[in-house]
Amino acid sequence: MAPIISIRDLTKTYDGGFTALDGVSLDIEEGEILALLGPNGAGKTTLISCICALVSPSGGSVAVGGHDTLTDFRAARSLIGLVPQEVSIEPFETVENTVKFSRGLFGLPPDPAHIEKVLRALSLWDKRSNRNMELSGGMKRRVLIAKALSHEPRVLFLDEPTAGVDVALRKDMWDLVRSLRAEGVTIILTTHYIEEAEEMADRIGVIDSGKLLLVEQKSVLMQKMGQKELTLHLAAPLADLPAALADYDLTRSEDGQALTYRYDTRAQRTGITRLLADLAAAGIAFRDLETRQSSLEDVFLTLVDEGARSTTQEGAA
Ligand SMILES: Nc1ncnc2c1ncn2[C@@H]1O[C@H](COP(=O)(O)OP(=O)(O)OP(=O)(O)O)[C@@H](O)[C@H]1O
Ligand SMILES: [Mg+2]
Repeated sequence: MAPIISIRDLTKTYDGGFTALDGVSLDIEEGEILALLGPNGAGKTTLISCICALVSPSGGSVAVGGHDTLTDFRAARSLIGLVPQEVSIEPFETVENTVKFSRGLFGLPPDPAHIEKVLRALSLWDKRSNRNMELSGGMKRRVLIAKALSHEPRVLFLDEPTAGVDVALRKDMWDLVRSLRAEGVTIILTTHYIEEAEEMADRIGVIDSGKLLLVEQKSVLMQKMGQKELTLHLAAPLADLPAALADYDLTRSEDGQALTYRYDTRAQRTGITRLLADLAAAGIAFRDLETRQSSLEDVFLTLVDEGARSTTQEGAA
């Protein structure tokens, strides 16, 4: 099946010369939930803004539902609902009118039943006659989501939807996202909460300094997370790994003082007993050991760190 969103070699250099996106290519499948992770300033909002054609790319192309966002803007945009990172709603308008008006902007006929369904799903029905300025911050965020859903989009972008949102609303939001997905809506969200990406996403993309460092099925990342590390602090530094230990997934620290062994926690045999016996046979003694489980956060931090280092190296070259 053709992807619902197809991004090719997308670059964005802002006026002033800052490159916020640097050759991003990505296909997003219909019906998936994709979480974009990345530090502040990584380019997440810029990427979303380019896909929604709010920011014009400096190079590359984006197609939504087969419609090029530049040459076929209206058709592409009509498929998209966007919940922006910044709250911006008309303060004096009522909740209900805000959402109705948003639907009208897409040239769709009024559909009170749909508007009611959306407002109810977001627990805004009781507030429908209130003016936006009378709402709390969390409720304003809900209005933004209601607006984004007013024209029944096939793709929903949520840019940091749960930043500054309380636990109850966060839970409501994720219930809503799940039910939208069940209806076949494709969802792309950005978040700083790694647990959130872990819980919600089918696929996870990591972006930093305008580059997409990785896009992976969550299950594959989870498998990486199933790995544990055993670090042995050696009694004496080791210059090289003995050939007898070549079959183990071992890494020697730069100073030769430690060996790290990676193993799968779900495997029937971890291989630790055999490794320790082989180490003893090779005459390698250790004074201490520790184990740790790698998490998505580790995977993320390592990637961002490696990305930063390779960028610095490129810069130096
Ligand atoms: N209109 C603009 N003009 C110039 N530079 C911009 C503009 N908008 C964003 N940038 C820069 O582009 C980079 C990426 O910004 P962007 O908002 O896409 O990051 P982000 O990943 O969404 O970060 P955050 O997690 O803080 O929301 C930043 O360095 C930012 O300063
Ligand atoms: Mg952002």
